[in-house]
Amino acid sequence: MENAIRDFFMHLSQNKVLNQGAKRWGLKLGAQHVVAGTTIDEMIASIKKLNEKGIACTIDNLGEFVYEKVEATGAKEQILNVIEAIHTNNLDAHISLKPSQLGLDIDYHFCRNNLKEIVTKAKKYEIFVNFDMEDHARLQQSFDLLDDLSADYDNIGTVIQAYFFRAIEDIKQYKNYRLRIVKGAYKEDATVAYQDKNEIDQNYIELIEWHLLNGKFTSIATHDHYVINHVKDFVKKHGIPKEKFEFQMLYGFREEMQYELVIDGYNFCTYVPFGEDWYGYFMRRLAERPQNLNLLVKQVFNK
Ligand code: FDA
Repeated sequence: MENAIRDFFMHLSQNKVLNQGAKRWGLKLGAQHVVAGTTIDEMIASIKKLNEKGIACTIDNLGEFVYEKVEATGAKEQILNVIEAIHTNNLDAHISLKPSQLGLDIDYHFCRNNLKEIVTKAKKYEIFVNFDMEDHARLQQSFDLLDDLSADYDNIGTVIQAYFFRAIEDIKQYKNYRLRIVKGAYKEDATVAYQDKNEIDQNYIELIEWHLLNGKFTSIATHDHYVINHVKDFVKKHGIPKEKFEFQMLYGFREEMQYELVIDGYNFCTYVPFGEDWYGYFMRRLAERPQNLNLLVKQVFNK
């Protein structure tokens, strides 16, 4: 049953008509609890509140799977505006971006040039840029983009998704980068990815431990308290300093736990999505945790 619900929302997340339509609706269906507004000003106001609590942020200008150059160029301009806003407002924040929003599905070199412009501007202000990882079809090209740009830039990093069989090789290859480690959010084929939750969780722990011991800086991005408690014990046992890692969670999720981790002295970073293109992101959150449906139900009954 849980798999059927997951597949249903995954399917909805990729529906092009609904994705386009939702841009005209404004934040609806409960998405406003997990998306920090549709404009840069609304997003900045949310980040200031989080920064005041000692929480750093990574900003995602929502949007993905773009097939028109004009749309990808618009997304690039918006991200450049976000970088300027981080600098002007002196925010403790960096950028998360999706290569498919910046033209990866149109033309690799077009996408690379868009990323280069973003990374150049971010570098000017010493702002970090994370290349979020999408589905398996885009995985190798996203690593290629990172390789291409890392010859000239040191303010970039990426994500390792624990459900992929190849994740352990990738983490070894990219150990000198700042890496975010996640379980993985897309529906992937059994030929490339673990399907069983226990196997994914076990691989997730192994990757985190490996990178904490051998890597540059580790962002442990999860809402799973078992993993978080395990990491707390592991870093204590191995004397890993708090400057070498941080916890990350999504905006609007487990907020009490986010504050508790900060109060306990851990570095913490909230992933802050904003923009009109919220639909696919919100559907994936419903797919990975059907309990998130309570956001939607509350919204319906509060009307
Ligand atoms: P999971 O969903 O497996 O939950 C484990 C347990 O934690 C649950 O059984 C429950 O007990 C508890 N729990 C979880 N959520 C809860 C809640 N809201 N309230 C109470 N209890 C809860 N993916 C990707 O493919 N590419 C990417 O670039 C990113 N980037 C990214 C950034 C950040 C900051 C985060 C947090 C996540 C991502 N992801 C991602 C998504 C990631 O791959 C994954 O799909 C989700 O984080 C869900 O997995 P969890 O590790 O949170 O635990």
